[in-house]
Amino acid sequence: MKILLTGASGLVGSAVARIGARQGHTLIGVTGRYTGPLAGLHTRLSLDLASPGAIGDLVRTFRPDAIINAAAISEPAACELNPVLSEALNIHLPTRLAERAREIGARLIHLSSEQVFGGDHAPYCCGDPVAPLNLYARQKVASEQAVAAAAGDLAATVRAPLLGGNSPGGRRSLHERMLTDWAAGKTLRLSTDEIRQVCHADNLAAALLELCSRRDLSGNLHWAGLDPLSRYELAIRLRTHLRLDPARAPITAVHRADDPAACATRPADLSLDLAPLAGALLILPESFATQLTHLAIPPALQAWVDAARLPA
Ligand SMILES: NC(=O)c1ccc[n+]([C@@H]2O[C@H](COP(=O)([O-])OP(=O)(O)OC[C@H]3O[C@@H](n4cnc5c(N)ncnc54)[C@H](OP(=O)(O)O)[C@@H]3O)[C@@H](O)[C@H]2O)c1
Repeated sequence: MKILLTGASGLVGSAVARIGARQGHTLIGVTGRYTGPLAGLHTRLSLDLASPGAIGDLVRTFRPDAIINAAAISEPAACELNPVLSEALNIHLPTRLAERAREIGARLIHLSSEQVFGGDHAPYCCGDPVAPLNLYARQKVASEQAVAAAAGDLAATVRAPLLGGNSPGGRRSLHERMLTDWAAGKTLRLSTDEIRQVCHADNLAAALLELCSRRDLSGNLHWAGLDPLSRYELAIRLRTHLRLDPARAPITAVHRADDPAACATRPADLSLDLAPLAGALLILPESFATQLTHLAIPPALQAWVDAARLPA
């Protein structure tokens, strides 16, 4: 299958490229500013996808069978800092991709987020009412609606959870951020009552690729890992898995009630009901224990990890 992939240099997009190429797909990947190596792309283009004209020409030139949109301003804080740019990437880009997909009859797989939910009624089913608490989440809701309106049944929008995995720059995923902070001498202050159902980007990528050929599955869909865990527990499990010395990798347990202002924009429990995708796809959601075995140490942090490891 010929697949146009935006965000090919991101945590999810780079996994789609790597795994898609292994499966025999032809990946045309669009990156932004990242210039480092990327595996799996047949064609690599660097484009500013915030520019309104960028996408039309691309879709008409390559006429892909499927489009996977993994480009975004994916951090809530970055959206607040630059609302105009994040609106361009998070709403206008998927809208234009959906319009172009419809023009040529291509399948469109768009990525949304668990954050569309308010966090007080978990676990969330696909049809549950959304209640976004921050700008990023409101943009994701708007993108879901725009994609459905423009592309109808050609589109599947996958709401993803907090993501683990191995990113091209080594600084994007959950464990990469934790290791970066520990290596900088920070103590992680993590809540015991904020629940996330983390998924490895490779597992999500495989689900997105399978969805490209499953046109019977459309609309808003959920994909995540199997285990709802608190942010505190996630860090403890990672530290134990890597055998890091607690003195070098400190974690302090906090509670949402300790910082009500910050929690007003951060949902409490974003556990997801994975029906109907889990069971409909051949790929299976993974436990957190399995995900831990697929994590790599970013090269820039290897020396710190080696020094912080307890003896076996
Ligand atoms: N990461 C998570 O925990 C998480 C959780 C739930 C949902 N999601 C969603 O999943 C999707 C993928 O997330 P991710 O974590 O893979 O994101 P990411 O690692 O931040 O990657 C974002 C991608 O978008 C590209 N991009 C940003 N601005 C661009 C521009 N102006 N022109 C061209 N490309 C641009 C980046 O390119 P360069 O790096 O080359 O500039 C990069 O390839 C997003 O829709 C995100 O909202 C992510």
